[in-house]
Amino acid sequence: MHILGLSSGTKNGTSETLLKIALKEAAAASPDVTISFLRLPEVAIPGSEQPGIYDKRPALGANSLESIGQKIDDRPAVLEAILACDALIVASPIYTRQAAGVLKFVCDRTLGPYVDAAAVEKAIAGMKSGDPRFKDTNPEQRVLKPRVGALIAAGGATSVEWTSLALPMLHQSVFSLHIRVVDQMVARGVPNPGVALADEALPARAKRLGRNVASQLGKTFEEAEYLGDETGGCPHCRLNTIVVHGTATNDVDCAVCGAKGRLIVGDSGKIQVQYFKEPRTSVITMEGKRMHMEEIEIVARQTATSMADTEDARAEWKLMDQYKVELPSARAHAS
Ligand SMILES: Cc1cc2nc3c(=O)[nH]c(=O)nc-3n(C[C@H](O)[C@H](O)[C@H](O)COP(=O)(O)O)c2cc1C
Repeated sequence: MHILGLSSGTKNGTSETLLKIALKEAAAASPDVTISFLRLPEVAIPGSEQPGIYDKRPALGANSLESIGQKIDDRPAVLEAILACDALIVASPIYTRQAAGVLKFVCDRTLGPYVDAAAVEKAIAGMKSGDPRFKDTNPEQRVLKPRVGALIAAGGATSVEWTSLALPMLHQSVFSLHIRVVDQMVARGVPNPGVALADEALPARAKRLGRNVASQLGKTFEEAEYLGDETGGCPHCRLNTIVVHGTATNDVDCAVCGAKGRLIVGDSGKIQVQYFKEPRTSVITMEGKRMHMEEIEIVARQTATSMADTEDARAEWKLMDQYKVELPSARAHAS
């Protein structure tokens, strides 16, 4: 069983140090557990392509020097490392209240729909049933392998308001792969790794996170247990970040994962969220992901002709490129 760490922060910085503590502790749990980590700011990604579904899927096993505009592309190696792992621990510093942008950049350019569990499930079922739409697809079966995960955020601030979007953002990096998050932690007031190591509390918490991940290795999404601190929040992401709809029935969504509920006054007189069991709209659940697949299919059908129909209109907007600020890198590339 292999645990992969994703380090989104400074080399040997605060979040990376906590990640290493967690990984080492997880490896100590059993001789069968192996560990490695990827330092995301070092991942080379050719900058010219568009992200997401318009991007070329990075071919697995492709030579990392395979040229897209003669630039090194580390994405096949990143994707391979993620698909090979049985558990993922994602660690990030808190930058401007959120996780580091490099994490989202690497995820957007490497993962996205290619590793969406519901998309892969649908493609496999489509191929088996002989659905012609999936004739030439090559779904990556390892996406559906059971995986657990954990999240670590570290920030210099001690206040909730300067750290509150870190875990919500970290969840977005793991849910498509249907990774079951079994623990999550925010280290506050740690502007550098020295502070994180100054007393036993944070290393001890990171060790607990590592042990929690190791204890759930190999378990399916349904079997794996959440072992992190209880927040009394959403049953899926366990966080307390909500969208209030302002309806007469006091409907709310979990802003992190989309679970639905309503505000109620609890027995103690405190306002709380009562989450509904159904519909399972949380993107963390397979049902939520399948609903999204249906939504995407409808949109694809409805918009199939619009690219051809609007060619002239789009040509006009392309002319606006003359206002683009010319960067030194573009000048260097042109010369
Ligand atoms: C651009 C930038 C923005 C930051 N914004 C926050 C913030 O909003 N909240 C916070 O708690 N810490 C913030 N910090 C402090 C870092 O989270 C802190 O120094 C952390 O230890 C860095 O982690 P690293 O060593 O893993 O990179 C910021 C640091 C930088 C450089």
